[in-house]
Amino acid sequence: DAKPKVRWLGTPISELKRMPECGGLLPPLKNVPGQHTVMIRTDLLQNGKVPVPYPAKFRDTWDDVHVKMPCSGSNLFPVEDEDAVLKYSASYARKWDFTAIHLYCTKVLEPDAAEHLFDSLLPDMVQLALRASELCTKPIPLLKRGMNHSITMSQEQVACLLANAFFCTFPRRNSRRTEYCNYPDINFVRLFEGSSSRKIEKLKTLMCYFESVTEQKPTGLVTFTRKSLDKPLNWKSSQTQLTKLHITCEGTIEDDGYGMLQVDFANKFVGGGVTSSGLVQEEIRFLINPELIVSRLFTEALDHNECLIITGTQQYSKYTGYAQTYQWGGIHQDTIPRDSWQRRCTEIVAIDALQFRNFLEQFSPEKINRELNKAYCGFARPEEQNQNLAAVATGNWGCGVFGGDTRLKALLQMLAAAEAGRDVAYFTFGDSQLMTDVHNMHSFLTQRSISVGEVYDLLGQYYSSVCKSCLGRRPDVSLYSFIYQQVSPSLAPDESDRHSARQ
Ligand code: AR6
Repeated sequence: DAKPKVRWLGTPISELKRMPECGGLLPPLKNVPGQHTVMIRTDLLQNGKVPVPYPAKFRDTWDDVHVKMPCSGSNLFPVEDEDAVLKYSASYARKWDFTAIHLYCTKVLEPDAAEHLFDSLLPDMVQLALRASELCTKPIPLLKRGMNHSITMSQEQVACLLANAFFCTFPRRNSRRTEYCNYPDINFVRLFEGSSSRKIEKLKTLMCYFESVTEQKPTGLVTFTRKSLDKPLNWKSSQTQLTKLHITCEGTIEDDGYGMLQVDFANKFVGGGVTSSGLVQEEIRFLINPELIVSRLFTEALDHNECLIITGTQQYSKYTGYAQTYQWGGIHQDTIPRDSWQRRCTEIVAIDALQFRNFLEQFSPEKINRELNKAYCGFARPEEQNQNLAAVATGNWGCGVFGGDTRLKALLQMLAAAEAGRDVAYFTFGDSQLMTDVHNMHSFLTQRSISVGEVYDLLGQYYSSVCKSCLGRRPDVSLYSFIYQQVSPSLAPDESDRHSARQ
């Protein structure tokens, strides 16, 4: 084929905004009771220096609104002479399966590397885990349903918490039947089970992280913000115009969307199957930026109108492949600059799409509203000026494991981004037909100055005239051809018709 392959369409990516260039000045970092829990001494915060925990002495709490710490005096697990996971969690000794970690130590690592693991890395991780009462002195609030609250902690504090997760020391977190049933798993036990090669690759990726943070203390901070949309938007009446779109069938959110607001195609339990068997977009992101995993310690399942924003995590590993073919790809040197709070300028937003088993269901107004409000909650920053907002880096949100329609979801994300005042960089993950179709639709709508509200209305019409009466599993007319027909019956671009109607 002699034709040069089209790799991207729309606005050149160089014209979309990224952090730190586009950002405004940050206010000074400050602990605000009820709003922002800061776990370090802000007055001593300095570029390149390891942050100092605050307060100086461990404050022991054991209640319903804070993380129950392994080092708490109220933790009744045995505390003598235990660096073995099973001795500590004695009641699980016969249930837990360590096939994967055993294979990793005996079959995967070369003898030298195994020796290093037992003589150096694991003892260092144990020491790091045992420093919890010295490092994580302030009680960590649980980010519960409906709360608007941020937690800022140092990367060293995160590392200490993750070392505890590795050794499965968080009390009350080994059974989903207890008080934490609405929280993700944090203890890593399920990561060690089974004999799949995927588990081995996950272990390699996480051990690379522990190697890095025990070798050299990281010096930055990370902020976790739980946010809810107080009132759903009135989409129908919106006169907002669409923003710019860059769409490409090459590249990824994490590599090419640096400095943008990067979407995590999340589970309502953030991190999804990262500590067990999952290995798609969200889990991969949590593996290569493991500081994300600590959000599972304190983030209750997200509700329909909520998101979690994580700013400042670092990428420690590269990877190749995806899902079945995922492989750890070696150490990654993160060169993303830090902001004035010493956070990497990497902002990731966890938004969980709905899972659809019935394809037609997603076109109903109720589901469309839910997805629009979810995306809008993730993208909007009402406290910021639009000019300071980076573009959204996204892609086929909700369209892999969760079974959504890419063409609908692309449109919904464009509406939400427009309403939030952000441009969009869309990564189709290899799908060049999708790139063309979404680009054509975006051009069609913007050339005719069709507002967010008008598109929303067209979605409603599509549902009532095509989907509601549909007898088959899939609609007879594709969404995009319907929109072209409704807006300008004579001008419907037929190439988009042909391709999307096949879907
Ligand atoms: N950059 C851009 N696009 C990507 C990338 C990437 N790095 N990785 C994947 N895609 P999926 P979902 C594309 O299935 O349907 C997890 O277990 C690719 O086309 O991860 O929202 C969560 O914890 C892929 O098919 O997202 C949830 O439980 C598509 O994005 C659940 O999966 C969707 O990726 C969420 O499933």
